[in-house]
Amino acid sequence: MFEWLERTSVATWVGESLYGYPFMLALHGIGLAIVVGIFVMRDLRLLGLFSGISYDAIDSLRKLAWTGFSINAVSGSFLFTSQATTFVSNIPFLLKISMIFLATVCAGIIQNRMRDEAPEWDDSGAAAAGSVPLLAGLSIAFWMGAIIAGRLTAYL
Ligand code: HEM
Repeated sequence: MFEWLERTSVATWVGESLYGYPFMLALHGIGLAIVVGIFVMRDLRLLGLFSGISYDAIDSLRKLAWTGFSINAVSGSFLFTSQATTFVSNIPFLLKISMIFLATVCAGIIQNRMRDEAPEWDDSGAAAAGSVPLLAGLSIAFWMGAIIAGRLTAYL
């Protein structure tokens, strides 16, 4: 299946045209800046930093964060097609995808907790409660791991 994918006209355009790969990698950088930028800011807020910003204000950025995620899912899939048989057995790449999966699970759980509890935290001026700070710390570690593994993909 991955050999077939590599022979598609899309994969050939991405892998062999002058602008295919750099354009998709640039889109990937933009998506990365948006999704990781917003989720890490949210996680730092949940860890108690930037107390001047309400949880509601941070939470209102989540749609933009998922837009960034979608940009990376699409641009990443295009990049993947060009060397599918190589990437599918590339350890840093597989590690990156695993980290992104774990970071996405954290993002979903945190989003649901904030939907239910953030208004109360904002009203009472309290810090994020229970396991939320731990989830926020794990989330930051997974996104940082995804970026490091993503960068190492081209070298290892
Ligand atoms: C939010 C999710 C994602 C993040 C944070 C992310 C992060 C990264 C980073 C930091 C790089 C290195 C960029 C560079 O070398 O300039 C990269 C490259 C890449 N990513 Fe992603 N990525 C994401 C999603 C995906 C997905 C879903 C796929 C595939 C299905 C994917 C496939 C690739 C490929 C093939 C490369 C190129 C490797 C290379 O040629 O250096 N990415 N990604």
